[in-house]
Amino acid sequence: MMFWTSSCPAVLCVWMSRSIPSLPAADGIISCLSTDVGLQKVLDEHKISLRRRCECVTEGSDETGSGTLLNRIYTELYVTEGQSEEVNTQHEVRQLETVSKMETFHDTAIKVHDIFKALPDQQTHIRVVLTNGVAGVGKTFSVQKFTLDWAEDLENQDVRLLVLLSFRELNLIKDEQYSLLTLLHVFHPTLQKVTAEQLAVCKPLFIFDGLDESRLSLDFTNRSVVSDVTQESSVNVLLISLIKGNLLPSALVWITSRPAAANQIPPTCVDRVTEVRGFTDVQKEEYFRRRFSDEELSSRIISHIKTSRSLHIMCHIPVFCWITATVLEHMLTTEQRGKLPKTLTDLYSHFLLVQTNRKKNKEVLLKLGRLAFEHLEKGNITFYQEDLEQCGLDVTESVIFQKTVYCFVHLSIQEFLAAVYMFHCYNNRKTDVLEGFLEDGWKYELCNTRLDHFLRGAMEKSLKSRNGHLDLFVRFLHGLSLESNQRLLGGLLGQTENSSIIIQRVINNLKQMNMSNIFPDRSINVFYCLMEMKDHSVHQEIKQFLKSENRSETRLYAIHCSALAYLLQMSEEVLEELDLNKYNTSKDGRLRLIPAMWNCRKALFTNCGLKEIHCEVVASALKFSPLHLRELDLSRNYKIKDSGVKRLSDGLKCQTCSLEILRLRRCSLSHSSCDSLALALTSNPFHLRELDLSENPLLDSGVTLLCDFLRSPHIILKTLRLSGCSLSDINSLASALKSNPSHLTELQLSHNNLQDSGVKLLCGFLESPQCRLEILRLSGCSLSEISCDSLVSALKSNPSHLKELQLCDNKLQDSGVKLLCRFLKCPRCNLQTLRSDTIFFCFFKDADSLKPFKCHY
Ligand SMILES: *[C@@H]1O[C@H](CO)[C@@H](O)[C@H](O)[C@H]1NC(C)=O
Ligand SMILES: *[C@@H]1O[C@H](CO)[C@@H](O)[C@H](O)[C@H]1NC(C)=O
Ligand SMILES: *[C@@H]1O[C@H](CO)[C@@H](O)[C@H](O)[C@H]1NC(C)=O
Ligand SMILES: *[C@@H]1O[C@H](CO)[C@@H](O)[C@H](O)[C@H]1NC(C)=O
Ligand SMILES: *[C@@H]1O[C@H](CO)[C@@H](O)[C@H](O)[C@H]1NC(C)=O
Ligand SMILES: *[C@@H]1O[C@H](CO)[C@@H](O)[C@H](O)[C@H]1NC(C)=O
Repeated sequence: MMFWTSSCPAVLCVWMSRSIPSLPAADGIISCLSTDVGLQKVLDEHKISLRRRCECVTEGSDETGSGTLLNRIYTELYVTEGQSEEVNTQHEVRQLETVSKMETFHDTAIKVHDIFKALPDQQTHIRVVLTNGVAGVGKTFSVQKFTLDWAEDLENQDVRLLVLLSFRELNLIKDEQYSLLTLLHVFHPTLQKVTAEQLAVCKPLFIFDGLDESRLSLDFTNRSVVSDVTQESSVNVLLISLIKGNLLPSALVWITSRPAAANQIPPTCVDRVTEVRGFTDVQKEEYFRRRFSDEELSSRIISHIKTSRSLHIMCHIPVFCWITATVLEHMLTTEQRGKLPKTLTDLYSHFLLVQTNRKKNKEVLLKLGRLAFEHLEKGNITFYQEDLEQCGLDVTESVIFQKTVYCFVHLSIQEFLAAVYMFHCYNNRKTDVLEGFLEDGWKYELCNTRLDHFLRGAMEKSLKSRNGHLDLFVRFLHGLSLESNQRLLGGLLGQTENSSIIIQRVINNLKQMNMSNIFPDRSINVFYCLMEMKDHSVHQEIKQFLKSENRSETRLYAIHCSALAYLLQMSEEVLEELDLNKYNTSKDGRLRLIPAMWNCRKALFTNCGLKEIHCEVVASALKFSPLHLRELDLSRNYKIKDSGVKRLSDGLKCQTCSLEILRLRRCSLSHSSCDSLALALTSNPFHLRELDLSENPLLDSGVTLLCDFLRSPHIILKTLRLSGCSLSDINSLASALKSNPSHLTELQLSHNNLQDSGVKLLCGFLESPQCRLEILRLSGCSLSEISCDSLVSALKSNPSHLKELQLCDNKLQDSGVKLLCRFLKCPRCNLQTLRSDTIFFCFFKDADSLKPFKCHY
């Protein structure tokens, strides 16, 4: 159950344990129910109790504490099979922005009540389901709806017993010893009479809600398990045993979690992973329609949300819809007819006003802000009573409960309150807090630090976080600097310098932010901050730019590129090609455009100064871009190096990556790049048609590592370029090609010291009847006429495919060329291009079709 304390403002969501009843003596409860009739009666009572527990929900705050009927407001959520693997690195709000773009492309939705049912083409029995979703996206609502439908005899009636537990509840007994049976008795007193034998036969379903809030230490490598429902152990072990199937193997298990915590459960223990994606655009509207019986009101709210991109995007999160609905309903139905909020900061400022009595609660709000801020910095979202007391919050009313867990209604509220607190500290020159937060360089200037300095410091600090955990906080800080929001929050923030000159400086700082050495996907937050400050100039300029005919003549500032990246990424229209060199901008600007690759098919990033950090962003686009990028050219970025390729490989190995063309020419790669590439490509060989690794010192040892991939039966590689890779002994390459000869149509090995012995090794591949090679380049390989001899005899046995042969810059001698001419005369020879220094001596079979070219060095 969720409650709202009366003395704390209603932004803090407080969860209180029901006091745990003392147990009757263990053997006293068993034995009284032996017949199935008795069991059925207990199960029916349990259903009634669950129905009572789930039919009402408290959505965010509810002053009367009475709650709303779940079935009245429940709006179907978008749930999909699989997950977008948004591992711990991305802040949830940004995940949401990308997910919102993704939904139109993505796979089939699953109805919540079908979560244990296999899809038509799936054979497997689904026993353990893990459902991911960002905070507030509706996981708990889904669980409640599932439970209610079951308890009302509507769905999943093959499950006879459903046990709903939350990790918050389990935290309270984490250090105690229980058997699974007594655990049930404690948390579901209606089940007191269920025996061990009955439990085993009634195909129970266990739902564990909120793994992210767990304070249990789930160690799946620990071998200790229990298999008997009456055996006592720690809650950790009970849970692990249940998930692994040692305990009650017939039981179904459903776990929900925020993405960052989901990796506590090893994937091998999970039969299905689903993701709650929140509301689609249609579902958002349905939510508002269901919530307000007044149709005019819901229509006005919906149309207002559509006018603000920030609000519209955020409404994917049901909790955010609730916040929006609360604020807009209040503003539209009371006398207070101010301008409706358009930015997130506007909205949250109003929300604070609607929810609290600002004057009376000023002190409490600031204490909450301190709590929010201190824990935000650490990435902590749930708190205990001690944490509240440390911030001076009075929580005496909960003394009657054993232990209490607190968290904010939504992470974004924590972020907002943290920003309010920080702003207050700035205005009141709380040097210790500011110094603790800002970087060292700020220490000595504080007494005369201006607002624009302060905000720049906060921005710089937030940009250094890889996962963006301060992004929204910093956005709010910028929004709070506006006079309109200062006025709204009144005394809470204190006296701020109020000068349009300073505001303009803040805006200029944002526009001129130096982002070298910052992850390019982070730079978009600068643009969001501009939106919070209601500066739309960059946005307008970029819209103009996109319409103009003379794009390459228009010089773009780096901040324009952030905005452009954002617009391209969010655009409905898919970009066919993103060629960074076509934009007239600085190097920094070009790098800021990288995130736009999420919405394009071809990404051409040659010679743009990419480094390892950029490869990480590229890799995540390879994994998650819904469009499945086809072509990626990273050539001539000599700072990519092995560490960059290692990052890139994380994306390449992902099954959602279906890259067809990958070019990494001259990227300073050594043999260790081949190691990571080979691993990635061998596990996902299904799409790559072209691989260009030329002009990297891979050495023989590197290319040998690639051979596993070349031997893969699933390979479809047509083009392999390994020119200038410091190769000399290609024994393993030759034998890999020979073992799997039917795909390659182009092979470039120029400028390697192969010598005649190397060409001889290749001949086994060339003469294979399945060889389809059309282009072979062996310029500058220290070859003599002996190689011509081997080539001609190999090609003669399979002459009809080769169209181009390059042998420039070798010492073939006239005698060698004469041998080649003999091959040209062969009736089935199809050669159209022969490049060799001495081509002129050649006799042309058909002068029109064979084009002699000068050599390129
Ligand atoms: C395994 O778990 C049990 C019970 O929690 C604990 O006593 C034991 O120390 C753990 N073993 C290891 C190796 O962590
Ligand atoms: C969150 O706070 C609790 C104290 O309430 C602490 O034990 C825990 O380690 C913190 N978590 C993080 C990630 O800082
Ligand atoms: C800030 O300045 C504006 C005009 O620039 C004025 O209207 C407003 O009242 C001032 N607010 C405060 C809190 O001084
Ligand atoms: C940005 O900062 C880097 C160092 O981090 C520096 O080398 C570069 O010159 C700066 N660029 C500008 C335009 O100030
Ligand atoms: C590009 O074209 C626009 C009109 O479409 C014009 O306003 C602008 O001056 C032109 N820019 C350059 C650099 O020619
Ligand atoms: C880039 O833009 C500037 C300013 O409009 C212009 O002078 C320059 O010629 C452009 N560069 C290219 C390569 O078009």
